[in-house]
Amino acid sequence: MRIETGTRAVVTGASRGVGRALSEELARRGARLGLMARGKEGLEQHRDDLPEGSGGPHVSAVADVSKWGQTSRAIDRLAKRLGGIDLLVANAGVLHYGPFVEQDIEQAEAMVNVNVFGPLYTVKAALPHMLQGRMGHIVVLSSAAGLRSFPWGAVYGGTKAFDRGFAEALRHELAGTGTSVTAVYPGEYGTTILEHQRDRLPSWRTNDEERPVEELVEAILKGIEEDARAVYAPPVVRILGLSGIAPRLTDQILVRIRGRSAAPRLD
Ligand SMILES: NC(=O)c1ccc[n+]([C@@H]2O[C@H](COP(=O)([O-])OP(=O)(O)OC[C@H]3O[C@@H](n4cnc5c(N)ncnc54)[C@H](OP(=O)(O)O)[C@@H]3O)[C@@H](O)[C@H]2O)c1
Repeated sequence: MRIETGTRAVVTGASRGVGRALSEELARRGARLGLMARGKEGLEQHRDDLPEGSGGPHVSAVADVSKWGQTSRAIDRLAKRLGGIDLLVANAGVLHYGPFVEQDIEQAEAMVNVNVFGPLYTVKAALPHMLQGRMGHIVVLSSAAGLRSFPWGAVYGGTKAFDRGFAEALRHELAGTGTSVTAVYPGEYGTTILEHQRDRLPSWRTNDEERPVEELVEAILKGIEEDARAVYAPPVVRILGLSGIAPRLTDQILVRIRGRSAAPRLD
């Protein structure tokens, strides 16, 4: 689909990081935004700062995407105020790295609740609105970790593999409806997702690997306009897809790029 003046775009996790940068660029290209996040103040400030196109004012709704009632009510409200939804970006997500044996069960549950139920509830609530239109597009934020899960990220990788499987099936299932799906597999981008644990990262993951989020935004927008099945950003992330057919080779490559802690077992 083409992003143009008046495109009605709903973005979850829009107050910071990827969602914030993506909604800014969408607004710059003329889209009318429906923004979602939990924190009211940051969300409304961001909404008010966005450049406004001729399509009408941007709108926002506070909701926790891990709660079905809040998510469905927020999406219904945004769809009503925007007059429909053309583009949906299921982006909100959380990440807690750490050895699984030591991980708080609350952190593990939070990742499952936000990263699995979040996109599931978001898409479930938005689809009826989207299918009423002639054309629509859904973007689901998975991760490089959804292609090959990493030590200290067992739960996160598991949730992101759900996002991959969810988006893959939906793309086929919605064939012929006019609504399509793109899955996004980002590597490491400079956002606030690791703010709470900058000093405790897995050895294979350092703060200096992070790339500018604008690069990811460009790749996502290109993926939407080209109706791509998948967006790998940076492109080298695609190599991790090899893991399904050649896991040992993938591990060997990872050891060369990120050191032994990325794949302590090579058997
Ligand atoms: N950054 C990366 O390198 C990277 C790499 C791979 C994949 N990803 C994926 O990209 C997505 C965005 O990540 P990010 O890096 O932009 O994260 P971020 O900087 O931490 O931003 C997360 C956004 O999601 C919102 N959010 C968090 N929990 C929520 C909930 N329960 N309900 C509604 N909104 C919620 C936050 O606002 P509130 O806290 O106010 O709700 C915030 O707006 C995630 O799905 C992540 O897994 C990121």
